[in-house]
Amino acid sequence: MKLARKDILGIKELSVEEINLILDTAESFVEISTREIKKVPTLRGKTVVNLFFEASTRTRTSFEIAGKRLSADTINISASTSSVVKGETLLDTARNIEAMSPDVIVIRHRAAGAPHMLARMVKQSIINAGDGAHEHPTQALLDMMTIRMKKGKIAGLKVAIVGDIAHSRVARSNIYGLTKMGARVAVAGPATMLPRQVGEMGVDVYRRLEEAIEGADIIMMLRVQTEREHQNIFPSLREYARYFCLNGKNIKLAREDVLVMHPGPINRGVEIASDIADSTSSVILEQVANGVAVRMAILYLLTGGES
Ligand code: CP
Repeated sequence: MKLARKDILGIKELSVEEINLILDTAESFVEISTREIKKVPTLRGKTVVNLFFEASTRTRTSFEIAGKRLSADTINISASTSSVVKGETLLDTARNIEAMSPDVIVIRHRAAGAPHMLARMVKQSIINAGDGAHEHPTQALLDMMTIRMKKGKIAGLKVAIVGDIAHSRVARSNIYGLTKMGARVAVAGPATMLPRQVGEMGVDVYRRLEEAIEGADIIMMLRVQTEREHQNIFPSLREYARYFCLNGKNIKLAREDVLVMHPGPINRGVEIASDIADSTSSVILEQVANGVAVRMAILYLLTGGES
């Protein structure tokens, strides 16, 4: 089976069959990262440009590693060291990159819709590596892959997503993906962090963390986005932690075999207690490892590969 689309812009537009195709392909790529020589010639001669207008550790590094493990030439461009600082527009930057004939452009941008605009304007495949508070599709795919590998399924599981739902592209992409795949999704956060129409996304909405995580198979904690949020969303980090930090006491409300997830970077002691982040329930680093396989699968499928 082939992925019959030019770009990966969001989970909202992916079908269940396309999500399963990406997850199946990603699982088949996991083994490559365990080899002594972690490289296959699959994408030899292809060029991948990582164009990051926002900070990133996991996404940018794993796209670079994914490309290199498939033998693609990967080039990283950060806004801070590019001609963006001289005032070049996003479109001019993209058109100049396009002129150098890469095959895939991976873009992270603070503006929601930036990857969608590029996808219309340039002929290369565009992968959304996070656009503002809109979507982070590859994060949701690696999260779904982690759940599927650890639990053997997604359908029927209760997944609690806790924190700043309103400003989180990770939450939005996961809500689209998990509900499509048949999970029961519960969200919780302070009123200022819950979008008004979130209930229409097919999730159960709670104001208290304890209500959302009760009986949960998966708890996904969201990062408090200190770089985006204004002081008036919550009184203080201490106050936030008092009500919305996952800790050794409240986690007992979830199932005994609960998996704790977090997209990273984590604020220890704010949204997640340090001992929970490092506990045997935590799959945070497995999410990161699966991120390489998911990005390998997407690069492979977008450049014409078959499952
Ligand atoms: N999860 C995630 O997007 O992490 P980075 O911001 O480090 O890429």
